[in-house]
Amino acid sequence: MSRTSLDGAQICQKLDELIASGVGFDSILSSTVDLLHNANPRFHWTGIYELFPDNTLRLGPFIGSPTDHVFISVGQGVCGSAVAEGRDKNVPDVSKEPNYLACSSATRSELVVLIRKGDRIFAQIDIDSHDLDAFDVSTESEVRAVADWLADHYQAQRGS
Ligand code: SME
Repeated sequence: MSRTSLDGAQICQKLDELIASGVGFDSILSSTVDLLHNANPRFHWTGIYELFPDNTLRLGPFIGSPTDHVFISVGQGVCGSAVAEGRDKNVPDVSKEPNYLACSSATRSELVVLIRKGDRIFAQIDIDSHDLDAFDVSTESEVRAVADWLADHYQAQRGS
């Protein structure tokens, strides 16, 4: 049995409806976090970090406890190393990850999915769970569907 009820296509459809109703991009990002966070009870902290030209990730909308890690340099932590290595990160046990920045002592596993078009990285979805190994392959792929939807709209916002 799958451990997720998360349906990425359904979230993308809701986001399409919001875009069609004329809401701004900041509101789309907040709604994305809200829809993702509420789609899976194992998501205890859900946020978006945006990549700025100075190679810093800056925290955008999030749901969960406030974090000290509002700015993260590329290469630092799970978030920054995902950007540096150009790949998503699924960390089943953060206590075994040497390059980990603790957000909350309750966090046991973490998923970072890049919002990207080819080599161009716009942002990332970061999700923490209090459960070990909370992100199975299916969950990861549903989150990726949402990240890919956002990438199309980042590209439209920022130009190619
Ligand atoms: N754990 C992240 C930092 C961000 S908090 O999880 C919100 C990291 O290692 O980069």
